[in-house]
Amino acid sequence: MTESTENAESTESTESTGSFPSGFLWGTATAAYQIEGAAREDGRTPSIWDTFSRTPGKVLGGDTGDVAADHYHRMPGDVRMMADLGMGAYRFSVSWPRVQPGGRGPACERGLDFYRALADELLAAGITPSLTLYHWDLPQELEAPSLGGSATGGGWPERDTAYRFAEYAGLVAEALGDRVELWTTLNEPWCSAFLGYASGVHAPGRTDPVAALRAAHHLNLAHGLAAQALRAALPARARIGVSLNPSAVRPLTQSPGDLDARRRIDALANRIFTGPMLTGAYPSDLFADTAHLTDWSFVRDGDEATAGGQLDTLGINYYAPAVVSAPDDTAKGSGHDGHGGGDHSPWPGSESVVFHRPPGELTAMDWSVDPTGLYDLLMRYAREAPGVALMITENGAAYDDKPAADGTVHDPDRIRYLHGHLTEVRRAMRDGADVRGYFLWSLMDNFEWAYGYSKRFGAVYVDYGTQERTPKSSARWYGRVARTGVLPR
Ligand code: NOJ
Repeated sequence: MTESTENAESTESTESTGSFPSGFLWGTATAAYQIEGAAREDGRTPSIWDTFSRTPGKVLGGDTGDVAADHYHRMPGDVRMMADLGMGAYRFSVSWPRVQPGGRGPACERGLDFYRALADELLAAGITPSLTLYHWDLPQELEAPSLGGSATGGGWPERDTAYRFAEYAGLVAEALGDRVELWTTLNEPWCSAFLGYASGVHAPGRTDPVAALRAAHHLNLAHGLAAQALRAALPARARIGVSLNPSAVRPLTQSPGDLDARRRIDALANRIFTGPMLTGAYPSDLFADTAHLTDWSFVRDGDEATAGGQLDTLGINYYAPAVVSAPDDTAKGSGHDGHGGGDHSPWPGSESVVFHRPPGELTAMDWSVDPTGLYDLLMRYAREAPGVALMITENGAAYDDKPAADGTVHDPDRIRYLHGHLTEVRRAMRDGADVRGYFLWSLMDNFEWAYGYSKRFGAVYVDYGTQERTPKSSARWYGRVARTGVLPR
């Protein structure tokens, strides 16, 4: 790849040069708990991640989001930095326990003021705000009443949490509906349900497969109820979406066993959400695969319809494909499922499916680099969600970035990763997918959940000792793509 098109300003359709249409949104993404810090300020109460990260052994190095990238105190500078880099859009999440402490009752105006100020700074800088309501920081009180206590039993497995979420959505819409047009209900509900309640590698760290299936359902319901609350409170121009992390799941071979493994994981990773959200119904094979665990009687009449038909935009978060085989194919198996260690499977009823590490390059997460998975997902959802716009709401990679002696940070691997994935996005658009934007994960290095600060996904390097921000070479490269709409060869 060269940077020969560095100065190209054209956004005309010159297909062969890799131009994107004008109006295509170029942004970066972050999430509240991963960057904000200020965990105890201005009325914020703990979320399940505050509790989990304080539980010994749950997060690498005992890291927490207490300070993170201190964005809560550095927000205006961070927005200026985005503007300087040439970003057109910014996807952030609202911390539920900051704006509705405890997850019930009235709004906390000081918390809302932070997001009003953020939206104002973005708009003043010509950056389109894109707001995600839930990026995993459930108010602790909704999971279990006492911080650090042993009481559990609430959270997403319980129906009431969906109603609480819809109330919260309405309250945020009232406060920010005049400033924000792009709304996302949930980020990666698969992770909330299956990493949070089945494998337990994410907060709240429970390992109960039935609780995970119940959580998935109540997340679907929460999405539907929140979308209704948003429509009631927002101006007509608002666009409502969800960010899923659909799995580009491939069978190891074409054997019937491997194809069935693929079908099972596709049901639990993808169709468990897209079924209700896109078609208003769960797929019947999901019920069959999990019938020995639950009769799904927690799904009430009308729930699936509530979850369905709400999407203007389908957000896709993509990092790596998955390769699976039948349980008995152990000779080739590695057990790798791309979601970290732990003794418990995140796949209720399909625990014995074998995950294989695809050949080729890996990122610092040990995730394989394969941009064709993104193409496949875009083409799939272009087909399965006709009339729904697609948005890549996350894509990016962690590498072991380190400042050079002169302080600069060079990350050619990330540039290559982004270039490869953007090439596939453009190809999908040429082949008919209605893709409206791309958000790089992430604007800056941040708290990478169970990996703490050990993994760096940022286009901007953060020195956690000084909180100094240094744009990596990928930030400059991506900024040029964003400003010109042209992907260099
Ligand atoms: C998806 C999540 O939404 C985000 O929070 C996380 O940091 C990235 N994937 C990388 O793992």
